[in-house]
Amino acid sequence: MSFTIQPQAPARPNRCQLFGPGSRPELFEKMAASAADVINLDLEDSVSPADKEAARANIILAINEIDWGRKTLSVRINGLDTGFWHRDVVDLLEQAGDRIDQIMIPKAGNARDIYAVDALVTAVETAKGRGKRIGFEAIIETAAGFAHVEEIASASPRMVALSLGAADFAASMGMQTTGIGGTQAGYYMLPPAGEEPRAVLYADPWHGVTAAIVAACRTHGLLPVDGPFGDFSDDEGFRAQARRSATMGMVGKWAIHPKQVALANEVFTPSQAAVKEAREILAAMAKAEAEGQGAAVYKGRLVDLASIRQAQVVVRQAELIAS
Ligand code: COA
Ligand code: MG
Repeated sequence: MSFTIQPQAPARPNRCQLFGPGSRPELFEKMAASAADVINLDLEDSVSPADKEAARANIILAINEIDWGRKTLSVRINGLDTGFWHRDVVDLLEQAGDRIDQIMIPKAGNARDIYAVDALVTAVETAKGRGKRIGFEAIIETAAGFAHVEEIASASPRMVALSLGAADFAASMGMQTTGIGGTQAGYYMLPPAGEEPRAVLYADPWHGVTAAIVAACRTHGLLPVDGPFGDFSDDEGFRAQARRSATMGMVGKWAIHPKQVALANEVFTPSQAAVKEAREILAAMAKAEAEGQGAAVYKGRLVDLASIRQAQVVVRQAELIAS
């Protein structure tokens, strides 16, 4: 380990973040009744400019009146390049009660974006004497966000999570796709020329930014989250994308339709088999340590002190979700 100890991310389940437009209040009760760990009420891109004010009012009412249970409750404000975001923050924090947990900042491009929202949130919290400090989650969905992901992660003690926003990210990067996440037809490898048949092998165009988000989050004790998967008719495609993200260290994924909630919960809850194996590895290492060994053999493969840390990730995640 470095002399700098890696901080733990907040100990809370974050397997699925269910989104709903602030302009469709008839969805709010259904969102509250869903199995999502986190609710994101949206004021940004799922709400048309003409509906922004009504959506704000709907969301403030819903925060105050709906029973959100133990869910983390977040509101996505408009981007800092709009004439909406300051009013989103002020109205929310002046009029909504303490049930709101987080504000989500879209299209974060650098630490100054977070600083600006922090200054405004702090001013309203102080003026209103709000008891509970609002947390921030930001979306990495622009070229600048990718380039500056670490300074965004460490921009404020309010920062709790970073999500990857695939659609805006693709647009900002100039990627040739209109798909929202998942496999992209143009991103593939072929076997070398002459090697037949040359079956297409799809690779993951989201890999680079995913790794950058996970590294920034783990360095600064934030939750790394995979964003939307647009084709909500494609369950297997969702699962495949979610499994890649989970394998790379992300803790959850957005749902943009209620049917995706169970899929995300399934993938981001460690399986019983995975937990059993992790516990067996911990037991094998405890036995090895008792015998004065730093390494052991488990099912024909090496396990050592690093395996303890890997197994603890799985066990900790399972225990967190079970509690
Ligand atoms: N949360 C909770 N319930 C939802 C929901 C959501 N986000 N979206 C739809 N539902 C409900 C519907 O009301 C319907 O309920 P019912 O069976 O009681 O009638 C049921 O789920 C099936 O909905 P369906 O008809 O398939 O969807 P739709 O055509 O009404 O809406 C979308 C589809 C994609 C437009 C809608 O799900 C949506 O707005 N999603 C979120 C978009 C968003 O917030 N984007 C920003 C982040 S990328
Ligand atoms: Mg976006």
